Amino acid sequence: MSVIVIVGTQWGDEGKGKITDVMSETADVVVRYQGGNNAGHTVIVGKEVFKLHLIPSGILFKNTVCVIGNGVVIDPQVLVEEMKALQSRGIEVNPEKLKISSAAHIILPKHKALDKEQEENREEGKKIGTTGRGIGPTYVDKIARGGLRMEVFKKADKFKSQLGELYSLKEILAPYIIDTVKYVNDAIDAKKKVLLEGAQGTMLDVDHGTYPFVTSSNPTAGGACTGSGIGPTKIDEVWGIVKAYSTRVGEGPFPTELNDAEGELMRKVGVEFGTTTGRARRCGWFDAVVVKHAARVNGLTDLVITKLDVLDQFEKIKICVAYEIDGQRIDDLPTDLDLFSKAKPIYIEMDGWLQDTTKFRKFSELPYNALRYLFKIQELVGVKIKIISIGPERGQAIKRDL
Ligand code: IMP
Repeated sequence: MSVIVIVGTQWGDEGKGKITDVMSETADVVVRYQGGNNAGHTVIVGKEVFKLHLIPSGILFKNTVCVIGNGVVIDPQVLVEEMKALQSRGIEVNPEKLKISSAAHIILPKHKALDKEQEENREEGKKIGTTGRGIGPTYVDKIARGGLRMEVFKKADKFKSQLGELYSLKEILAPYIIDTVKYVNDAIDAKKKVLLEGAQGTMLDVDHGTYPFVTSSNPTAGGACTGSGIGPTKIDEVWGIVKAYSTRVGEGPFPTELNDAEGELMRKVGVEFGTTTGRARRCGWFDAVVVKHAARVNGLTDLVITKLDVLDQFEKIKICVAYEIDGQRIDDLPTDLDLFSKAKPIYIEMDGWLQDTTKFRKFSELPYNALRYLFKIQELVGVKIKIISIGPERGQAIKRDL
């Protein structure tokens, strides 16, 4: 491994945090490249549960340096709280371990207020179901060239009125703020192992997702370049994180959604409730059309399948292989939201394995039907599977040995 991008292939919450955590042990640098505290990663280490929103989970390892890249939008209060919470649990957070881009934009109180107000004012059917964290309005100001960047904390007196109540955080934050573009590129030149960690997922990408039911940044692999300041030629691998079924938080079309007992079982067993907002996630069958789209727009080199164990109790398991739209079979993701909203899934059905997979530590020893399911996903998506995750703990991730 030298430079690897980790991206979500569905609607976020694929388990990127866990995989980044597992890989961070051998990484020298972990970089977050877009989004903000709309994201939430839960990492379980032994009996300890860490919920992180802005700081990459690599912070939990002593020798890994974490970077919050220029593409991220930062709520300074949330960041400081996260830093303090980690410190209070004995995790080292200092300017050696955490670097914050001077060019990352600041989420101001007005952005949060506007996010909530806009959401309230959207009529039914047009609501996006944002996390209310001010993400969209902050990116609007960034693109409109009216935003404030983290660099202002280094010259806070000049920006006192714009920073308002955030001004008081300048002493804490200033030592962490650097030119992370130089830092990350120097690390790559020095042959360090660098992990670029995406938040949300491909279907929430502002360009490649189900617009306008998306977030306001580019979680896809291209966003890793712009959001961290590295060139595409520096990237060696792009790993797509794929949940063994599908979930979505917030509004927008979701063809394989299950509003029945099976969906309820997925939610219960998979503990499908948002890390950030606590909202129940919508659940449904695996959608190969969506993940094939993700393979294409991200140039995926490998797949990591997560939460396979959540399907342990299902007698029959379905995979959506195409859609029926207006009586026609469609094999690729329609870019027109009106068409996508009408998509009815065309399923294949496979036998479940009805066994507890959480105990397995070897890919080749997984139940036959579980392997069949995994190989079917691989065949449909056209990208090889590298790792399987069968539970939330660090040890419950197995490398492919077949
Ligand atoms: P925003 O990012 O708060 O503007 O929300 C836009 C959409 O993205 C909403 O549907 C959110 O539910 C969704 N979203 C944002 N962050 C995440 C995430 O980390 N996981 C899943 N959905 C997310």
